[in-house]
Amino acid sequence: MDAAVKIASVVGARPQFIKAAPVSREIREHNEEILVHTGQHYDENMSEVFFQVLEIPTPDYNLGVGSGSHAVQTAEMMKGLEEVFAKERPDFVLVYGDTNSTIAGALTAAKSGLPLGHVEAGLRSYNRTMPEEINRVVTDHLSTVVFAPTETAVENLAREGITRGVHMVGDVMYDVALQMAQPARARGVLKRHGLTAGDYLLATVHRPSNADDRENLASIVEALTDCGRTVVFPVHPRTRKNLEAFGLWDALSAKVKVLPPVDYLDFLGLLMDAAKVVTDSGGVQKEAYFFGVPCVTLRDETEWIETVEDGWNALVGTDTEDILHAIEHFNPSGTKSKSFGDGHAAERIAAVIDQLG
Ligand code: UD1
Ligand code: UDP
Repeated sequence: MDAAVKIASVVGARPQFIKAAPVSREIREHNEEILVHTGQHYDENMSEVFFQVLEIPTPDYNLGVGSGSHAVQTAEMMKGLEEVFAKERPDFVLVYGDTNSTIAGALTAAKSGLPLGHVEAGLRSYNRTMPEEINRVVTDHLSTVVFAPTETAVENLAREGITRGVHMVGDVMYDVALQMAQPARARGVLKRHGLTAGDYLLATVHRPSNADDRENLASIVEALTDCGRTVVFPVHPRTRKNLEAFGLWDALSAKVKVLPPVDYLDFLGLLMDAAKVVTDSGGVQKEAYFFGVPCVTLRDETEWIETVEDGWNALVGTDTEDILHAIEHFNPSGTKSKSFGDGHAAERIAAVIDQLG
């Protein structure tokens, strides 16, 4: 039998808790995991609730880094991670997605001479003004093993010369969505908020290009308040802060059902029964596709191109009229032919890691 591998997994932001949930469960079957939370997200509804509803083990370390500029936040994470890696001497470091926690984990592993694995590798928006794009590219190039969610991701990696250590495993977010669909339905979130299935839109906004830009945010708010539909909008803290700072909060909350960020089960429950989703999130575009909910994306490009090619995702940007037109007229009905795996991506990742022992 192979020796157990000691893995240090680095997470820090909401979507990473969700991605790590199934992987952590699988890798602990045969190996030891040290879970490190950088503290990038720290509000209870951005962090703790995900550990509860997804039954993720309590982190062994919380670096408590919090918010800051890119340089400050990433550097603080690297300082903390270097100490943890020196103390724990893991055999392997695992990072997820494309946040500052991802790049901090990747750079620190590489500088500490530790092999690195990247879950959700090979995603590209080909927009280098997105902080996440920088994080993805650098992390993929530092990795020893990359776990790609789709064939497109494998092709993107090959185009950059990354062909060794590439494993097409499927999408871990599809694993979680399948596992949690039933518990999410059983939550009764629609009743709690007085909603009728198929009769409301679900909105999320948090990309800096939208949330930090007054004009773009105002344009999105106008579409959501003028569309004449019931809109539910769990508001990310970055966006809440700016809606208030730009004087947009009162107009929004007068017409739209604004909520604090909700936990994963409530979010899936809201998403599955929405008439449409209006979002700039990466993960939410995919979840809409998984559950056959038309997605109106408030961006000009996407990493999840399959959802657009298959006709279920409309890239509309931030123009009020374009958003309103898509809310009214975007009604896809074709089959969903694109593969995000079979719901067993985490098992494949664990099997690859088992071989490292
Ligand atoms: C981060 C990721 C982004 C990801 C998103 C998921 C980077 C560069 N960005 O963006 O890729 O899509 O997480 O949600 O890593 N804040 C709070 N409480 C919290 C967390 C944040 O109030 O618990 C506020 C702070 O004002 C902070 C701002 O939100 O300055 C932004 O947080 P930050 O983690 O820097 O970036 P996100 O926009 O959350
Ligand atoms: N999500 C959630 N509660 C919310 C908003 C989103 O649980 O109030 C989940 C959603 O289901 C998805 C993930 O958070 O799985 C997406 O995270 P986010 O949009 O913050 O980041 P991105 O995917 O854009 O990096």
